[in-house]
Amino acid sequence: MNSNILVIGGTGKTGSRVIKQLQNQGIEPRIGSRNASPSFDWNHKDTWVKSLQNIDRIYLSYYPDLAVPGAKEAIESLTYLAKELGVKKIVLLSGKGEIEAEACEKIIADSGVDYTIVRASWFNQNWSESFFLDPILSGEVALPMSDVLIPFVDAEDIAEVAATVLLDDSYNSKIIEVTGPELITFKDIVRTISKTSNRNLNFYDITLEQYVAGMREMQLPKDMIWLIEYLFSHVLTNPQNQKISHDIEKVLGRKAKTFLEYAEETAKTGIWNAIEMSTEPHR
Ligand SMILES: NC(=O)c1ccc[n+]([C@@H]2O[C@H](COP(=O)([O-])OP(=O)(O)OC[C@H]3O[C@@H](n4cnc5c(N)ncnc54)[C@H](OP(=O)(O)O)[C@@H]3O)[C@@H](O)[C@H]2O)c1
Repeated sequence: MNSNILVIGGTGKTGSRVIKQLQNQGIEPRIGSRNASPSFDWNHKDTWVKSLQNIDRIYLSYYPDLAVPGAKEAIESLTYLAKELGVKKIVLLSGKGEIEAEACEKIIADSGVDYTIVRASWFNQNWSESFFLDPILSGEVALPMSDVLIPFVDAEDIAEVAATVLLDDSYNSKIIEVTGPELITFKDIVRTISKTSNRNLNFYDITLEQYVAGMREMQLPKDMIWLIEYLFSHVLTNPQNQKISHDIEKVLGRKAKTFLEYAEETAKTGIWNAIEMSTEPHR
């Protein structure tokens, strides 16, 4: 396909994998991130035009989350600029059970640009590339809502779906819900990571208030604490987030990855046995 593609968040959990998927098909997409050239920064609109120039299709993952204040306005501005500059299609990475994310989906759906929404549940990679990694490294995992059932989904599956719908216009105007194949709890996860990484991880069931107090003690940035508290109190507990979808299988013709498969592969990389703790909080 003769298409110029921009992957916004192209070095992130899903974006880096979307890039690989496209490269495997002989497509060299442009990366949208602050460190890319040209640089793209959500906080500096003057960087957007260069990144969007001569682009036909966009994979759009917003940082840090579509739920944060200002996200909706940013998505709105970017979508209309993209349309003005001749972009034909946007694939938006959205979040299951997030009302704010649905408002962003609507902006894109109403824009007149072709689109597909990839609406994801919580990622497996939060345990290896994001905010759940540090507790795993410390050996002490204390989380609230330990019995809530979540269909954790793998970023590899999200990326393969995203790359497919980005290139295949038969998915235009559709919402693809991407979840893992099973409902699992935090307790199940910590048990699985203990087993696959050969570690003795301790799990503590705490309240959300205790969790938030812990983040304050660790002096995480205020907006990060707000986001994580919001995700626990509004997204995790939303019944919409606790349902399995079979869309991955429908799009890819194969089953979605289980958490165990992800954990076995990730354990082999040694990341869960790292001695040094990462200090930068990220989502
Ligand atoms: N994590 C989950 O469980 C989950 C579940 C459902 C939906 N989501 C959605 O997933 C999206 C995030 O996707 P992701 O996890 O694939 O990405 P990610 O790993 O969180 O994003 C990191 C990417 O964003 C870029 N970035 C950071 N700050 C930026 C800025 N100011 N301007 C431009 N780029 C910036 C980074 O590159 P540079 O550092 O080079 O700029 C990097 O490419 C969010 O919108 C969230 O709502 C997440």
